[in-house]
Amino acid sequence: MRVHVGSDHAAVAMRQALVAALGEFGHEIASERGPTEATDAVDYPDVAAEVCAAILADPGSLGLLVCGTGQGMAMSANGIAGIRAAVLSDAFSALAAREHNDANVLCLGSRVVGVGLARLLVETFFATGFEGGRHARRVAKLDELRRR
Ligand code: RB5
Repeated sequence: MRVHVGSDHAAVAMRQALVAALGEFGHEIASERGPTEATDAVDYPDVAAEVCAAILADPGSLGLLVCGTGQGMAMSANGIAGIRAAVLSDAFSALAAREHNDANVLCLGSRVVGVGLARLLVETFFATGFEGGRHARRVAKLDELRRR
């Protein structure tokens, strides 16, 4: 899987740990955005917008966005048509967000989950496919709501 990754300053260390984990799990880092130092503050909507644009320009790719809570990244990403971002902190939801909701961006909070759980969430999310079927109708309706 090609994965576009981004974080703000609150999640630099977590982003770097998860970029390494994605490589271990056999995924390709298609792009990486965000500061290299936690002291270099940036605004999460700017990073989310750049990463989501990269995902939409790269069909079949997915995204990973990390900030302090994951919430700001998800709120930003979900304002963009074609993006379905999920803030996750449990493995069952990581599975279901892909199988049922066809989530294309995983959002994590570096101040919420530890690196061990974040690795499990990343491993699960990016290894899981969309089930389609009845879920495709619902995801189509979800996307339609965003176009109103
Ligand atoms: C930065 O302090 C923090 O607000 C940001 O990382 C994120 O948690 C926002 O949702």
